[in-house]
Amino acid sequence: MKLITAIIRPFKLDEVREALTEVGVSGITVTEVKGFGRQKGHTELYRGAEYVVDFLPKLKVECAVAESSLEAALEALANAARTGKVGDGKIFVQSLERTVRIRTGELDDDAL
Ligand SMILES: Nc1ncnc2c1ncn2[C@@H]1O[C@H](COP(=O)(O)OP(=O)(O)OP(=O)(O)O)[C@@H](O)[C@H]1O
Ligand SMILES: [Mg+2]
Repeated sequence: MKLITAIIRPFKLDEVREALTEVGVSGITVTEVKGFGRQKGHTELYRGAEYVVDFLPKLKVECAVAESSLEAALEALANAARTGKVGDGKIFVQSLERTVRIRTGELDDDAL
């Protein structure tokens, strides 16, 4: 299993959720975060105005996927989140050791 963590533009959430659902991702967790990338936040626009602070509002989207779903999920996520402008975000992938579905006690791929 892999844990995908994507930092995306907040207004892209619906598109990203739909794209991930289409490739069979069974659940996602979303957190409001702030961050900056290479431009240090300065040259990015947010809702039409240049932000005066270094940190820009983003969403962190996390989803655990089976190894066999990883490439499809990454492609779907990136395509849905892309505008082509600076600040589109980033995707991180980590190995995931264990998953437990609390209600049933199922483990790993069966628990996703
Ligand atoms: N190296 C990193 N580590 C952790 N978070 C990062 C990193 N790079 C970017 N982020 C997160 O992703 C968000 C969006 O980054 P951003 O898309 O601006 O990256 P970038 O490397 O500057 O690419 P671009 O040139 O396309 O803007 C940041 O606000 C931050 O939350
Ligand atoms: Mg940037």
